[in-house]
Amino acid sequence: MLRYLTAGESHGEYLTGILEGFPAGVKVPRAYIAAQLGRRRRAPGRGARQALETDVFEITSGMDGETTTGAPVTVLLRNRGRAAPGFSAVPRPGHADLAGMLKYGTMNASLVRERASARETAARVALGSFALKLNELLGVTINSRVVGLGRLPSIDAASAAAELLRARRAGDTLGGVFEVTAEGLPAGLGDFTQHDRRLGARLAAAMLGVNGVKGFEIGGGFALAALGGMEAAGSPELSGGLDGGMTNGRRLTLRCAVKPVPGLPGGAPSADLRTGRKALAISRTSDTSAVFAAAVVAEHAAALTLAAALLEKFGGDSLAEIKPRVDEWRRKTGKLLKNL
Ligand SMILES: Cc1cc2nc3c(=O)[nH]c(=O)nc-3n(C[C@H](O)[C@H](O)[C@H](O)COP(=O)(O)O)c2cc1C
Repeated sequence: MLRYLTAGESHGEYLTGILEGFPAGVKVPRAYIAAQLGRRRRAPGRGARQALETDVFEITSGMDGETTTGAPVTVLLRNRGRAAPGFSAVPRPGHADLAGMLKYGTMNASLVRERASARETAARVALGSFALKLNELLGVTINSRVVGLGRLPSIDAASAAAELLRARRAGDTLGGVFEVTAEGLPAGLGDFTQHDRRLGARLAAAMLGVNGVKGFEIGGGFALAALGGMEAAGSPELSGGLDGGMTNGRRLTLRCAVKPVPGLPGGAPSADLRTGRKALAISRTSDTSAVFAAAVVAEHAAALTLAAALLEKFGGDSLAEIKPRVDEWRRKTGKLLKNL
């Protein structure tokens, strides 16, 4: 079973990620992991805090040089912006602050923020790099792209940059929509026999687990509700690559809606919970939009879920064991899928 955990606070010494159940014999170059982390850190829309972070990392277990051994992999990401947690009794609306303070019985929102912050997603990307590489070596290509920013239903690099600049100058933030796709997935990953084995459900959990993601669709998604069955049957790609909770050999397409970043440079109305007086919750270093970075995080989260499903179907403790099984399955199912 492939599983992972992260630990660490955003201004603590380290973020830590542990990946367990990952096969031996997978070469994951340090430069590859660094490049993936760079995609998240340098994504358009990010704010001043990113200039502080360098995502310097160490791998302290589970690798022989740059190749996995099958033992749990530990990644340590050193935080450059280290500091003791401050004190704030003013919860920021739209964040974990208020519910987290109530839940853990503290008047200090900083203690909640330190862990709830999306800085944690750097550890998810570091671990996801291993899964992305495994997918790649097994012939599965996973990608992500932003398809909408704020009110712009489609974007290119220039229009996105202009819209981000406009929002930043206005002291505002933006949400958006991103897509994650996977090509080359063998048919039959996931399962129809139990609700929690359905691959769509597992991917939904991974996508909605990305901070700020509020909407999720597979294939035709919400638009499917307005189609007739005859119309839908004529467009099998609307299934988004999943039928009955399993991959069907087609391209997997997921779409997610990301809410606008709640941290506003001019402040959002809140209150000091100790005094009950109205106060502004100000986020000076906030990103203008999280959608580009969230897309990268989601790509890695999807890679982890898909790697887990591949390992469940094909088993094996090393890449050398798994790869021929996947190739053979593709040959076998490919012949049948060609008839459709
Ligand atoms: C990579 C990434 C960076 C983010 N950066 C910020 C930020 O700078 N400021 C902010 O207010 N929210 C930011 N967010 C969004 C918050 O983390 C998110 O809105 C918050 O966790 C509450 O959303 P939730 O209700 O979905 O958990 C970011 C999200 C991601 C994925």
